[in-house]
Amino acid sequence: MSAALPSVLVVDDEKNMRLSLKTVLTDEGYGVTAVESAEEALAVLAQEDFLLVITDARLGGMSGYELIGKVHTRWPDLPILMITAYATPKLAVEAIKAGAFDYLAKPFAPEELLHAVSRCAERHRLLHQNAALRAQANETYQIEQIVGDSPGIRELRQMIQTVAPTDARVLVLGESGTGKELVAGSLHCLSTRRNASYVRINCAAIPETLLESELFGHEKGAFTGALKQKAGRVEEADGGSIFLDEIADMSRPLQAKLLRFLEDGTFTRVGGTQELRVNVRLIAATNRDIIEAIRENDFREDLFHRLNVVQFRLPPLRERGPDVLMLADHFLRHFSQIMKRPAKRFSRAAQQKLLSHHWPGNVRELRNVIERGLILETSDEIQPASLPDFQLETGLRKATGPRAIGNESLDEMMANFERELVTSVLEQNHFSLTRTAERLKISRHALRYRMQRLNINTGSETDEEPPALGKEAAS
Ligand SMILES: Nc1ncnc2c1ncn2[C@@H]1O[C@H](COP(=O)(O)OP(=O)(O)OP(=O)(O)O)[C@@H](O)[C@H]1O
Ligand SMILES: [Mg+2]
Repeated sequence: MSAALPSVLVVDDEKNMRLSLKTVLTDEGYGVTAVESAEEALAVLAQEDFLLVITDARLGGMSGYELIGKVHTRWPDLPILMITAYATPKLAVEAIKAGAFDYLAKPFAPEELLHAVSRCAERHRLLHQNAALRAQANETYQIEQIVGDSPGIRELRQMIQTVAPTDARVLVLGESGTGKELVAGSLHCLSTRRNASYVRINCAAIPETLLESELFGHEKGAFTGALKQKAGRVEEADGGSIFLDEIADMSRPLQAKLLRFLEDGTFTRVGGTQELRVNVRLIAATNRDIIEAIRENDFREDLFHRLNVVQFRLPPLRERGPDVLMLADHFLRHFSQIMKRPAKRFSRAAQQKLLSHHWPGNVRELRNVIERGLILETSDEIQPASLPDFQLETGLRKATGPRAIGNESLDEMMANFERELVTSVLEQNHFSLTRTAERLKISRHALRYRMQRLNINTGSETDEEPPALGKEAAS
């Protein structure tokens, strides 16, 4: 795919710096958007795709480090280049810890900047090429991609092989980052439907109001903005499989429609009357405790039984023993190749450190840790210093934990703690209810209920989050 590259976003409060960055980059053929503040940057990022973000460390308002943190959580695949005033290793490490891809110390030569940018462009091309190839080959997930030798993972691979060729519906459960998507993809690729489409929908990433028309399509004029008739993704998946990720976040009314669809394969487009029928295999996944969701009345029990024909439960990484090192080696090789760096090994102490961590973010967290470690390490063995300070992180979590002060009752203290927690997660997610609910692993409905109970007022009831479809598909 030789599509034009997206623009570079430059964030700097100094006008001269913005101008000179813009000149250097446009001379080299890159498109550039320049803004003055982190706040503005976040606003344009929500509107448009960018190749990378170049930001100064010091900005008026929100700092460059904070900006990196926010961008990194919201668009984990978007590279960020940080410009710092002095070349101290400490600042560089800070920048990379916050999620920057690389950093440049002022003053720098234009070639240094262009070199860093061209690395991002190359990565972008590779990612796109990969996506295109995968689309061509209809996404080839292979069971060998599931790395691990622990009994749980061996059994998982075995079960995928057994279940894939049947048409059975599968429900994949497991904490965030345990590999649910990988499992779903392998199920399709090992099935007899592998030459037909594999359609993926993330139910949490699409606003509630659009999800139904995404799934089942709509007729012209069905709602404001429905200018043309649109086929549903289930039609696209006819003969193949559909993967509904984060299924527990689907609204109750849509759950009812999905139930009907699962009963006989029929559906009607939004605003339509004609009954349509397709033949698709459904694979669903969620990282929420689905039984609790049923208990909280967020999820229909009858739908659960329909989906739960075969259940896969992915073990958390901390229960997989030495798989941690196997996966770490796997990602190290993977990123060395991408970054065109010579393959490194882990020092004994680094291995110990990896083994002793609890991995709340599971394989995804490990993958990020290894990528970062490879960037930070200057010697030919990965040392513990290039890995995050897990103890510090756990310690910090403890230090900010709840404490009994004053003469409040347990209920009051719990409510205060809960309020603080929910508010901070709301802030981290720019007050998007969808993302906050996702992070807290509760439904939006439950989140709104809690906010009401805890008296949290964000000043707006709307969730203006754009559907992150393009970004999902690109990752
Ligand atoms: N056993 C494994 N071997 C190799 N890579 C893995 C394994 N498990 C997960 N990964 C990788 O870890 C990352 C996270 O996995 P995945 O996206 O499948 O998680 P998930 O369970 O869907 O998480 P979430 O609930 O947050 O969506 C992906 O890059 C995936 O390729
Ligand atoms: Mg997933």
